[in-house]
Amino acid sequence: MASVAVCFVCLGNICRSPTAEGVFRRLVREAGLEDEISIDSAGTAAYHAGETADRRAAACAERRGCHLDSVARRFQPGDFDRFDYVLAMDAENLSDLSALRKVHGRGTPGPHLGLLRDFDRTAPKGSSVPDPYYGGGGGFEEVFDMCERACAGLLEHIKQHNLR
Ligand code: 4NP
Repeated sequence: MASVAVCFVCLGNICRSPTAEGVFRRLVREAGLEDEISIDSAGTAAYHAGETADRRAAACAERRGCHLDSVARRFQPGDFDRFDYVLAMDAENLSDLSALRKVHGRGTPGPHLGLLRDFDRTAPKGSSVPDPYYGGGGGFEEVFDMCERACAGLLEHIKQHNLR
């Protein structure tokens, strides 16, 4: 069994969190750590449950050598017991997750619950990965860049704190 479990969370689980999942999977594979780190993603809403990644997110990732193969699902209260890191894309996702954790009394001491971009040392504290769903295609490139930087920082953090 993997020793560290990471779940990326956005609203719909079709754009940002599948991108973060795909980017992080590639970094973990390149580091030879697939047996140590398990990776998943979910959404705070169920609008798109059962769907594969948004076409625009998948195309952007393919252009950059990354295949997205997630199937959307809603984040469940029990997920707080299954993951060591639950990483939200924006402040709204984070506040929804915090409320869910409180209501269900789950995960105490529980997983690290925070924003993905807090693992990017070049980003100001509290930065979000902005929702690209209603915007133009450029938003997806920006999301990919942000996920690449933050996931690199996340992997370094996990190597230092969880795998030594
Ligand atoms: P995501 O993007 O949270 O990054 O997957 C969105 C996907 C769908 C919707 C909003 C954001 N929506 O309103 O359906």
